[in-house]
This record gives sequence, C-alpha cells and structure tokens, in this order.
Amino acid sequence: AKLLVLHGPNLNLLGSREPDVYGRATLAEIDADLSARAEAAGHALASFQSNAEHALVERVHASREEGIAFLLVNPAGFTHTSVALRDALAAVAIPFIEVHLSNPHAREPFRATSYFSDLAVGVVSGFGPLSYGLALAAAMQRLDRRDP
Ligand code: DQA
Repeated sequence: AKLLVLHGPNLNLLGSREPDVYGRATLAEIDADLSARAEAAGHALASFQSNAEHALVERVHASREEGIAFLLVNPAGFTHTSVALRDALAAVAIPFIEVHLSNPHAREPFRATSYFSDLAVGVVSGFGPLSYGLALAAAMQRLDRRDP
C-alpha cells in the first residue's frame, strides 16, 4: 500500500534544532530510513514537509486522489493550534498515526493539548526518530491486517 509521512513546521531543521530535545538525525535521514523499511515490507512511503499550514492541508487533500492508504503525521507546532489541518484529516478520512519526537506531555503545559489525538488511530511520542519507526511498524501491521 501507499503511505505518506507528513512533517509540520520547523522539522526541516532537524539535526541542528534543539538536539537535546529532538535528536541529531536529519529529516532526510529519517525519511530515507522510513521509505527503506516500507519498501522492504512491500509498501511504498513518500514524505512531505512544510512550514505552511495551507501546503499541509492541500497535501492531505491530494492524498485521497493518490490513493494513500495510511498517513503518519507529525503536525509539530500545528499540533497545538491547527483546526484546519485536523479538519483536512477528518475530511479525507484516511487513517493516521500522530507522531512526535519528544514527549509533549513532559514539556510546557501548552503542548499537552493536541487537535489530532482523538482522531488518530494512535499516538507515538517521546522516542526521538524511533517514534516514526514505531508508528510505521504499527501502520504496516494494520495494513497487513495482522493481529498484534
Ligand atoms: C513535536 C512537538 C511539538 O510540540 C513541537 O511544536 C514540534 C515537534 C515533536 O515531534 O516532538 O515542533 O511535534
């Protein structure tokens, strides 16, 4: 199946951005690792990063036309603000897992609110780049309909 990973604002700076919080892996390294894992399991994974809310919303809309079966979404700062991106995901009704490198619940109180968690199949946070890998494993298990 086709999967898409969406990365929100400032994640293009991974590697140099607050490495104590987000780790030293770059976004390109994370994406390459994910697509290799997906391909090895017989799936295909594309990725998209934007700092712009409208671009993310439009990428979600396009996903439906493209037949994307599953999304991994790190809304980054938009996690705590974006009704529009939430509404886009609800509109296309493609199942998604919410991903965070850090554990938002262990940080500032404003990060405890997510506009996405209640719509998500599940949430993986706090494991650095591994959060994406764990989310991908869960997504593929679901797509392959293997029972846990
Ligand atoms: C983040 C957590 C958010 O609170 C923050 O705004 C980010 C990254 C994470 O992956 O840990 O930009 O989504």
